[in-house]
Amino acid sequence: MATKSIRVAVIGVGNCFSSLYQGFEYYRKHSGENIPGVMYADIGGYRTSDIEVVAAFDVDMRKVGKPVGEAIFAKPNCARTFQKKVPDGPVVLMGNPLDGVSEYMQEQPEEFGFRVAKQKPVDVVQVLKDSKADILLNYLPVGSQEATEFYAQCAIDAKVAFLNCIPVFIASNTAWEQKFIDAGLPLIGDDMRSQIGASVVSQVLQELAFDRGATVEFHQQLNIGGNTDFNNMMVQSRLESKKKSKENVIRAQNDIRGIPVPKHSLFAGPSTFLPYLQDNKVAYFNIRLKGFGGAPITIDLKLSVQDSENSAGVVIDAIRYLKVARELGVVGSLRGPSAWTQKTPPEQMMYADAKAECEALAHRKLTASVQKQVK
Ligand SMILES: NC(=O)c1ccc[n+]([C@@H]2O[C@H](COP(=O)([O-])OP(=O)(O)OC[C@H]3O[C@@H](n4cnc5c(N)ncnc54)[C@H](O)[C@@H]3O)[C@@H](O)[C@H]2O)c1
Repeated sequence: MATKSIRVAVIGVGNCFSSLYQGFEYYRKHSGENIPGVMYADIGGYRTSDIEVVAAFDVDMRKVGKPVGEAIFAKPNCARTFQKKVPDGPVVLMGNPLDGVSEYMQEQPEEFGFRVAKQKPVDVVQVLKDSKADILLNYLPVGSQEATEFYAQCAIDAKVAFLNCIPVFIASNTAWEQKFIDAGLPLIGDDMRSQIGASVVSQVLQELAFDRGATVEFHQQLNIGGNTDFNNMMVQSRLESKKKSKENVIRAQNDIRGIPVPKHSLFAGPSTFLPYLQDNKVAYFNIRLKGFGGAPITIDLKLSVQDSENSAGVVIDAIRYLKVARELGVVGSLRGPSAWTQKTPPEQMMYADAKAECEALAHRKLTASVQKQVK
C-alpha cells in the first residue's frame, strides 16, 4: 500500500532541481490517467503530486539561507521558468563543499560560476533524520567524487535511500552497493538519462541497427550547451567519468550482444560551453552503418532540448520507483529502474527489458530477479 507522501531531500539546488521543483507544482493538479509530459501518472500508487521536498543542501552564497522556492531562481541557474509560482519549501542549508566546486567555477563571472558561502556545514545526517527524508537526491556537479561519497555515506547513516543522478559510480560500484544492502536500503544510479535525450536516442538507434542486421562502423554524439553543467565540464580533469558514462550507453548495446566495438569508432561527450544557449542543449549524431552487401548507410541527426526539464521528466519517476522498492523491502541497486533512468546502471539492459522491469515494479510485482534482492 502506498503511504501518504514521498519525502525527498536534495543535494545541489542547480538547474536540474529547479526544473524538477517547478514540475512538482506544474503537475500538482493533474488527476487524469495521462499527464502530458510525464511518462507514468501512477507508479505503485504514487502520483507526482505525492512528492514533497523536506530538506535541501547547497554551498552557493546565493542559495544557502533562502527558501528552496527562491533559491531555484538564483544565479547561476538558467533553466527555463515554466512555473513561476512555487511553494517556498524548506530553507537551503549549507552542505559540505569538499570537491563540489572547482577553482575554475569560482573564477568564472558571477553569472556562470559558483560562489561558496562562508557558513559552517550543517550536520547532514541529523538533518536527514530530523526531516524524516525517504530519499536523498544527488545533483552535484560532475567531478564531485569526494562530495558524492560523503553524501552517500550520510544517506546510509541516516537510513535514507539514494538516487545518484551524477557520473560518480555508486550504484554501479559493488562495494558501495554492498554498504546500502547492509543498511537495508535501495538505490538508483548512476548518472541520469534524460526523458528524450541524447543517450536514449543513441541507444535506440544502435539497437535498431543491430536488430536490422547492420554493423555499426562509427557512432558519434557531440553535445553543446550553455548551462552551469556544461561550464563545469570545461575542466577536462572533471570530465573523465562523464564521457565514460555517456559512452557506456552505446557500448552496452554491443556488450549485450557480444559484438566488439571497433577501435576509434565511438565518441559521446560534452564538446563545449556556449553561454548564449543557456539551458538549451544540442546534440549532433553521426552514425555510420554497413547494410546488405556492405552498403554504406549514414544517419545524421540533430536533437535540441531543454536540458534540465528533460532530466526532471525521468527523475520524477525514479523517485517513485525508489519509494515503492523501499516499501516492498527491496535492497541494493535497482536493476530495471537504474537501466531505464540512468546511463551507467549496475546492469545494462535493452530498452524494452528495462521498461518491462519498471512497469512490473510500478504494479508492485516483483520479477524473479528482483525477488532475490528482497531483504
Ligand atoms: N539533463 C541534464 O541536465 C543532466 C543529465 C545527466 C546528468 N546530469 C548531472 O546532474 C548534475 C546536476 O546538474 P545541474 O544542471 O543541476 O548542475 P548545476 O551546476 O546547475 O547545479 C549543481 C549545484 O550543486 C551545488 N553544489 C556544488 N557543490 C556542492 C556541495 N559540495 N554540496 C551541496 N551542493 C553543492 C552548486 O552550488 C549548484 O547549485 C550534474 O552532475 C549533471 O552532469 C544532468
